[in-house]
Amino acid sequence: MLSGSVIAVTSGKGGVGKSTVSVNLATALARSGKNVALIDLDIYGFSVPNIMNISSRPKTINQKIIPIEAHGVKVMSMGFLIKGNDPVVWRGPMLGKMVEHFTKDVMWGELDYVILDMPPGTGDVALDMHNFIPQSKEIIVTTPHQTATHVAERAGTMAIKSEHEIIGVVENMSYFQPIEGQDKYYLFGKGGGEALAENLHTEVLARLPIQEPQEGSPTPAIYEEGTQLYTEYNKLAAKINELHS
Ligand SMILES: Nc1ncnc2c1ncn2[C@@H]1O[C@H](COP(=O)(O)OP(=O)(O)OP(=O)(O)O)[C@@H](O)[C@H]1O
Ligand SMILES: [Mg+2]
Repeated sequence: MLSGSVIAVTSGKGGVGKSTVSVNLATALARSGKNVALIDLDIYGFSVPNIMNISSRPKTINQKIIPIEAHGVKVMSMGFLIKGNDPVVWRGPMLGKMVEHFTKDVMWGELDYVILDMPPGTGDVALDMHNFIPQSKEIIVTTPHQTATHVAERAGTMAIKSEHEIIGVVENMSYFQPIEGQDKYYLFGKGGGEALAENLHTEVLARLPIQEPQEGSPTPAIYEEGTQLYTEYNKLAAKINELHS
């Protein structure tokens, strides 16, 4: 079973950075000395193995799966269980089994945090997660753009209805700041995260800048030391630790 605090990273909308936030928050928490698991629950659109550049497959002992360890984080993804880039064509009931499988049949060991990378929207997987891991809390990711916050609000409303605590909002792609300490450019507008947090009666945990992928890195979307996002994710992890101390 899962120990530790379970945090689902959600948003109604696709492409706002849920997976990127999940991976970088998990690695930042691991850097802070915590035992962290990351479960990729985007069964159809899994992307965590790719973001973390994981090509190995987990081994099993006595029908239990040993999670892959990468960047100090224990990882499990649908991507480890299927061949190549084959599409996953499972329907509702099997999806539910997957959530159960990833939580029950994996040797997670003692954990401080379990980060769940959720698929976009408020579909079957979100419902299964809400039912199967009732203790999970949520971080809602949005961009500053109105449409994104509007859709993200639905995910938040679902969390509230199912009595899941919302830890806060992460506003991703908030601004672009070419030179540190100088002008910020608000490419997708301003204030979306704030408005969403207000509507959901929660706080903005972080405003993350837009950062170009680190060319040449085997993991271009895991932000390395010396970058703005590395610092911002450390701050976010510190905040999460503070809220859980
Ligand atoms: N702060 C950022 N700066 C620049 N690019 C970013 C940032 N955050 C995310 N991205 C990029 O945006 C794209 C979408 O991110 P990601 O896959 O994490 O979104 P998602 O919400 O998980 O998408 P999906 O709904 O498809 O699962 C990726 O190419 C990612 O590298
Ligand atoms: Mg994703």
